[in-house]
Amino acid sequence: MKVPEHINGIQPYVPGKPIEELERELGIREAVKLASNENPLGPSPKAIDAAREALTGVNRYPDGGGYYLTRALAVHWNVSPSQILLGNGSNELIELAVRTFMVPGDEAVMAHPSFVVYDSIVRAVGGRSIPVPLSNGRHDLKAMALRVSDATRLCFIANPNNPTGTTVNQEEVAEWVQGLPDHCLLIMDEAYYEYVTDPAFPDSLGFLREGRPVLVLRTFSKAYGLAGLRIGYALGPAEVITAMNRIRQPFNTNTLAQVAALAALGDSGHLTATRKVNQDGKAYLEGELDRLGLKRLPSQTNFIFIPLPKSLPSSQVYEALLRRGVIVRPAGPAALRVTIGLEGENRAFVEAMEAFLGQEGR
Ligand SMILES: Cc1ncc(COP(=O)(O)O)c(C=O)c1O
Repeated sequence: MKVPEHINGIQPYVPGKPIEELERELGIREAVKLASNENPLGPSPKAIDAAREALTGVNRYPDGGGYYLTRALAVHWNVSPSQILLGNGSNELIELAVRTFMVPGDEAVMAHPSFVVYDSIVRAVGGRSIPVPLSNGRHDLKAMALRVSDATRLCFIANPNNPTGTTVNQEEVAEWVQGLPDHCLLIMDEAYYEYVTDPAFPDSLGFLREGRPVLVLRTFSKAYGLAGLRIGYALGPAEVITAMNRIRQPFNTNTLAQVAALAALGDSGHLTATRKVNQDGKAYLEGELDRLGLKRLPSQTNFIFIPLPKSLPSSQVYEALLRRGVIVRPAGPAALRVTIGLEGENRAFVEAMEAFLGQEGR
């Protein structure tokens, strides 16, 4: 069997070990996981009830059109159901967009570093990723505009960006959208939308209502706490959604995910509590990082990007924190990405970091 060259060049996603396995290997207990930007409060209790109730019906295939959830989202965002597509996480929607709009040789413009999945999916279809370095941790939209060519089919803006947590604002994106050629679809990946507090954050659905070629991605994995069920959605022009719909699997979102997402969407109390825990945790962590003399980027998300001093490679800090029972995510060789957790979890991270820095004589 010959694996095509463009597939061999893709870096596979490296999954973290199960937490129980890590604990066993390291001889630690009750490890704190601040690595995947999950909701530390858990899912909405209403979502749990809905999923539990639906369990007895899983001998049947799911509703392939996601009828109730699609309609609820259409009402929630005041768009037509024909402008919505459900996906097995927003990851699947990224894949569907790439497979729908790109053929071998086409280009996709994206920031670097940004969400790693864009690049691997673009390469998987024989497309070319055009990475544009961030500027001070933010998307450099002017530089990205210069890289849009006749071959560009997609542009990705992760807003807020993962791993940096930074945003681009309404004015910047509006200017960008104006200059976008007809042959290019702008993907606004807003996985962390519900955490954003900046009033200058772009009204991406406004661009959609103006008829711009914009596809907005949202997810139930982050603030809604349903990462393990895999469900997200795209909001876009009806013709874009129709095209993507042609190539999706008939039952791409499962029964439990659909009912849990519907219940979660209706549980505004849980979302409010989630935002509060995040705001409080962010304020605490920011204060403690400052106290420890560590740098950080301003975050509009449920994680914080910490650029490390040159003498401290991220792999070394990651390992040291791991041995102290705290799992974070190295973000390249010179930074860490730490998810904001519950009060005790954040404290455990700060204590582990402080102990490590003390041991390093800092
Ligand atoms: C920017 C961004 N987009 C998309 C996703 C994918 O989320 P999911 O597939 O769980 O909806 C993530 C997850 O980490 C993300 O950070």
